[in-house]
Amino acid sequence: MKKAEYDSGQVYWEAPSNIALVKYWGKKSTQIPCNPSISFSLSSSKTRTSLKWRKRDHGGKDFSFDFFFEDKKNQTFEKKIQTFLERIEPNFSFLRDYHLEFYSSNTFPHSVGIASSASSMASIALCLCSMAEAIGEVNLEKKFFQEASSIARLGSGSACRSLYGGAVSWGEHSWCQRELGSDLYATPFSGLHPKFKGLLDFILLVDSSPKKVSSTAGHSLMNDHPFLDSRISQANHNMEGILKALDKGDWMSFQHIVENEALTLHSLMMSSSTPFILMKPQSLILIEKIREFRKKSGAKCCFTLDAGPNLHLLCLQDDEALVRRFIKEDLEEFLENKKWIADRMGFDGPKGGYL
Ligand code: PMV
Repeated sequence: MKKAEYDSGQVYWEAPSNIALVKYWGKKSTQIPCNPSISFSLSSSKTRTSLKWRKRDHGGKDFSFDFFFEDKKNQTFEKKIQTFLERIEPNFSFLRDYHLEFYSSNTFPHSVGIASSASSMASIALCLCSMAEAIGEVNLEKKFFQEASSIARLGSGSACRSLYGGAVSWGEHSWCQRELGSDLYATPFSGLHPKFKGLLDFILLVDSSPKKVSSTAGHSLMNDHPFLDSRISQANHNMEGILKALDKGDWMSFQHIVENEALTLHSLMMSSSTPFILMKPQSLILIEKIREFRKKSGAKCCFTLDAGPNLHLLCLQDDEALVRRFIKEDLEEFLENKKWIADRMGFDGPKGGYL
């Protein structure tokens, strides 16, 4: 491949958003998690990014890039990209020789308070890996997605799991007395029981205002957290349990662990040296309503939360009609503008190509 032919080019990638079942919370060192985590990728909630590159006449001292989100220049994200480029430069030493233009958009409405950093960082990492290949800097071949996952991790930890469809784990852990996983990149989970393949995710929107505490600040509060050691052993224990549940199709264990993880995440926030609360009164109302509904109806459903007030109501396909009616009749009044998004586990993984 003659490098000169590729002095300019354009590529796009679309990557799914993901929701964690066992939560990553706290870092051992730069973008290395304190504990293993597992998420599933969504089917409709995605970010699409295209990257145009052009060789600069005089490679500069600084990075040269523009970032547009939904056609508008986005300075908040530009700061994140700057840090991201600095972190990946040891792998991609050519970055300062090019001007980079990123155009990004989400398939879900932005400003509804759904975290999009995972899907956007994953799509950006994929674009940069494709660019590196196109200009002849690397030849990743079979390692393409593994490398993109490792690069995405440097932008946002949870982004490294958005490189695959289905259930995806990140971090060293043990299962059935085997040491598995890596802290550097995510791995798709191959043992998913057919029952879980139809898992639905109803995202219940409680509050779309920007978060008062960023996840970066939240992670760093784990450094001196009084419960750090017990959190690490709990997460490892829950990881073993959830892998077993996903493998065996054991809904009751799944439900127990998923809710335990969601509530633990928020308890860790509330018990850190600078305590903070991201749930809203409506989040608690929804939790109570879901538990009452489950008891009365016997529906297989449970909730999880990200680092924010919105709930993800998960359920198996057989109970879809029942759960949809429950949301409409009993939950909508507690949602912001009665808004909720129906999504499900997605298996396609990222899609992309040269333009
Ligand atoms: O990827 P970050 O740094 O935004 O952290 C995400 C943390 C949680 O969403 C709360 C949990 C997780 O594992 O995704």
